[in-house]
Amino acid sequence: MAQVGLIGLGVMGASLALNIADNKYSVAVYNRTAAITHDFVANAGELQSRLTACETLQSLVENLDRPRMIVLMVTAGEVVDAQIDALLPLLEDGDIIVDAGNANYLDTRRRNERLAGSPVHFVGMGVSGGEEGARFGPAIMVGGDAAVYPQLEPVLKAIAARYNDAPCCAHVGPDGAGHFVKTMHNGIEYADMQMIAEIYELMRTVTGATPAQIGATFAEWNSGALDSYLIEITAEVLGAVDPDSGQPMVDVILDRAGQKGTGGWASIESIAMGAPATTLIEAVGARAVSSLLTERLQAAPLYPLALDSEAQSIETLKPQLEKALLAGKVCAYAQGFAVLQVASKDYQWQLPMAEIARIWRAGCIIRSSFLDDIASAFAPGDLPNLLQAKHFVAIMSNSHQSLREVLSIAIKAGVPMPALSSALAYFDGYRRERTSASLIQAQRDFFGAHGFERRDREGRDFHGPWGMDYDG
Ligand code: 6PG
Repeated sequence: MAQVGLIGLGVMGASLALNIADNKYSVAVYNRTAAITHDFVANAGELQSRLTACETLQSLVENLDRPRMIVLMVTAGEVVDAQIDALLPLLEDGDIIVDAGNANYLDTRRRNERLAGSPVHFVGMGVSGGEEGARFGPAIMVGGDAAVYPQLEPVLKAIAARYNDAPCCAHVGPDGAGHFVKTMHNGIEYADMQMIAEIYELMRTVTGATPAQIGATFAEWNSGALDSYLIEITAEVLGAVDPDSGQPMVDVILDRAGQKGTGGWASIESIAMGAPATTLIEAVGARAVSSLLTERLQAAPLYPLALDSEAQSIETLKPQLEKALLAGKVCAYAQGFAVLQVASKDYQWQLPMAEIARIWRAGCIIRSSFLDDIASAFAPGDLPNLLQAKHFVAIMSNSHQSLREVLSIAIKAGVPMPALSSALAYFDGYRRERTSASLIQAQRDFFGAHGFERRDREGRDFHGPWGMDYDG
């Protein structure tokens, strides 16, 4: 009999199954195509003895210890519902279905509600780290009933990544909380990647540096405040050469970015919750604009670049670029965590902010020591926004000027920096005592009698002196 069941032997499912087996748990595996299941087990080397290939769901269920823990690693969406439908008649009291795919948290909430009255538990769980993470230690964000988590905890903590020996796995809240946290992780990932790409593009355009030289700069930054997995892989990618053409790999790759949807979900939710994470939204937008390749090629000759882009040396610009990227990164994470805080209130999830930052320190795509600082900032428990934490106030005070200077170079050179520009706009809006919102309120009242608050009196429904003359 096996201790864990796993359905779906795609790249992520297969890696996760091997990881579980590697941690001394026996795993019964099932894939829709039986040949894939048998091949997987046959190729599992010394882990084979802990894996049982099951050709049907019935045999998967029969091969599992009770209460059963069945992990789904299938395509998010209808496939998950179909899999739940197929499993339910076979399961018994106390069995647990864990959806480990990149589900939309609203689907997870719906599934939780659907199974709430049934004897079977449903747990939506975010897993980050790509193929390598799944195989050797991902970050794991568990949702669902807190009372069910202890049954999953030993396995999940065993397979999770570790940061200073602490497993990067936690129960973050009920129902869809795990998938929501994963979605925000991905949104932040989009913003982080986009900002790195913007800095790369600027270096390329205004300094004329080669990808390899720029890669070396990123490698240098990786031992400073920007130290992170995404910076590390960027350095590696930029140093790579296409074996066929001898060209830098990055120049051979078509500049049309794909996206599977989680960045969009994170953006939509941030707007719906009234905490627009503009850097994430811009990152999604930039990918969408990049995908308009044919139109871009048509538009390019319509607007020949006659811009004042003074050549700059990479050595001179480097310190400013590093600070600009750091400032942008702080704003992106501030926005992402702000959305988590609003969601936590709206859904009464009580998301453990410091713990979320802690489990992102290793295993996941945005892993970095920066998240350790975020965890410390949230640890006291009453932080309204990362931009108010002492550590980050110091970083921003020391770097926002560089962001301004870098953006002005980019604007003059015609290099788009949507994510970094929106980071600065957010920062400038957030730290301002007075904003132009008084005028917005006046406009709203003028055309729609929406009312406003006054600085000098209590109350919410004042009107301006314009109503009488309206249309007059
Ligand atoms: C992770 C990644 C992973 C994946 C996404 C994003 O945390 O392991 O975020 O979930 O890379 O599929 O992919 P897109 O860029 O295609 O949206």
